[in-house]
Amino acid sequence: MIVEQLKKRIVVLTGAGISAESGLGTFRDSGGLWENYDISKVATINAWHQNPAMVLAFYNARRRQVIAAKPNEGHYALAALEEFYDVTIITQNIDDLHERAGSSKIIHLHGEILKGRGVDTDKFLYPLDGDIELHHKTPNGQRMRPHIVWFGEAVPKMEEAEVMVRGCEILIVIGTSLNVYPAAGLRYACPNWCEKYLVDPGSIEIDDQQFEYFKGPATVQVPLLVDHLISKAKNS
Ligand code: APR
Repeated sequence: MIVEQLKKRIVVLTGAGISAESGLGTFRDSGGLWENYDISKVATINAWHQNPAMVLAFYNARRRQVIAAKPNEGHYALAALEEFYDVTIITQNIDDLHERAGSSKIIHLHGEILKGRGVDTDKFLYPLDGDIELHHKTPNGQRMRPHIVWFGEAVPKMEEAEVMVRGCEILIVIGTSLNVYPAAGLRYACPNWCEKYLVDPGSIEIDDQQFEYFKGPATVQVPLLVDHLISKAKNS
């Protein structure tokens, strides 16, 4: 039993790749979401103003997929890490698979598809278990929109995320092409002495920082990495 305050601090930055084997598509792999949809028509604030019905339909379809999906061994392995480490997950994903796998500290940089909010504020969030329709309103009469950070909008949780990365002792990057800023820049906020691990099946280039590369799919490599870190904690 490791006393809470003695647990080493781990930050895990996850992207669409960790949910790929749960059946939720990635964005930029071949066949990815952005091959089938024009980002500017479904994932920007301008798209919302010009054609809210199309935007709602896009996110309603993705919400149904998330509701039908299940966490995979990668999500569960990260939850198991919490017994031995103080783990914060910073995810670009809008699904709730980390929550359902049992992780307890999660920062969603790009929003959460199972929550809605009024167009006027993100202070009040409303749990969703189905579609948002054009006529749906919040209790104070505002038009309901998905609680998603669209391209062109600010990323409200960036500061909170950066503080966590600055204070981490171990940084793990899983399943992200590191294409989208400011999220992709978070890795540079970690202390240069912190241990760094990368999990990805592709040939992602981040050799400007010394990442130990667990090359392969999340369901295989994340459990291997977690076993490695747990045996280190037990022997420390
Ligand atoms: N296991 C682990 N990683 C995987 C797997 C897998 N089974 N399959 C694919 N990957 C990796 C790919 O190699 C790639 O590096 O996941 C990454 C997916 O990259 P993207 O599709 O660009 O997804 P992501 O980095 O999360 O995109 C960031 O872009 O469109 C926006 O808001 C959206 O949050 C998203 C952001």
